[in-house]
Amino acid sequence: MSFSLKFKGEKAIPVEKEQTILQASLAAGIPHYHACGGKGQCTTCRIMVLTGKEKLTPPTGNEQVIRNIKKFPANIRLACQTHVLEDGVEVQRLIRDETDRLIFVDGNVADTIGEIGERRKLALFFIDVRNFTPFLENNLPFDVIHLMRRILSIFKNAIVQYNGEIIDTAGDGLYAVFGLDSKIREAVDSAVLAGFKILEDLRIYNNTYVRPYFNHTFEVGIGVHAGNVVVGNVGIGLSHNLTVMGYPVNIAARLQAATKELNNNFVISALAYRLLKKPPYSLGCGHLNLRGVSSTYEVQLIGHPYLGTSNASSGKLLSGPPDQFLL
Ligand code: FES
Repeated sequence: MSFSLKFKGEKAIPVEKEQTILQASLAAGIPHYHACGGKGQCTTCRIMVLTGKEKLTPPTGNEQVIRNIKKFPANIRLACQTHVLEDGVEVQRLIRDETDRLIFVDGNVADTIGEIGERRKLALFFIDVRNFTPFLENNLPFDVIHLMRRILSIFKNAIVQYNGEIIDTAGDGLYAVFGLDSKIREAVDSAVLAGFKILEDLRIYNNTYVRPYFNHTFEVGIGVHAGNVVVGNVGIGLSHNLTVMGYPVNIAARLQAATKELNNNFVISALAYRLLKKPPYSLGCGHLNLRGVSSTYEVQLIGHPYLGTSNASSGKLLSGPPDQFLL
């Protein structure tokens, strides 16, 4: 008995019931990589199942061991360990040449999340030091670097404590995500708790060290949003090369940038705010105009007004929504 199996971008081939997908593809002339000879050890025969994954045999013991180690998503299978049970399966070879093999197998890319890209719902967290430039201009390079390291370590400790992952750092800020190993509600909770921990730890650091020794007070702006993003590893030899992309990332970055105009150091999108199990007190909501979006975007102000502003110095809280502004 034979079934038809489609290789995307290549051809449809017949597969006998007793043949593995690898055996069938080789028999049909497809140059399918199989470095270990089909023993389920090298993973070079891996395929992505585009349709009909339920029409395949379950993973063998060998495949399951590798799946656990490599953390393969459900739609990645080893062709040498898999048989077809029905028509209607479409797959795609992932390793087609030596460059693919170097990227996916010889590198460490395979050990990390999103080797082939996944769409995930994540909490997105941007933070930036607001007033670092004046400090930088008025202090010794040693002190600048030393304090920057201390502040970034405050950021990192809080993010790690709440199971976040730092994706990128740029100058005096960074970008992290929460939810790689949890559901979105928990992820947003974690992002907000990490943000509050940073604000508190920074307050203590300012009071005990920065202000007494440097007559300066560091402030930060935090933006949090949640949404569907593409997560993948673009591994080009750099360590830790996880990339997270998508429009929600841009929104989170813009919320962080908007903290200054909204005069609040912690801005969260209304969408993410509604996901929180115990939403913190909000000083009010704001409405932002995002470029390319016709309706205004609602945010909640869950931090404090910046120091040095009239609101902050008088201890007066913002009572209503700030004016709209264009991001
Ligand atoms: S050929 Fe090596 S794992 Fe399939």
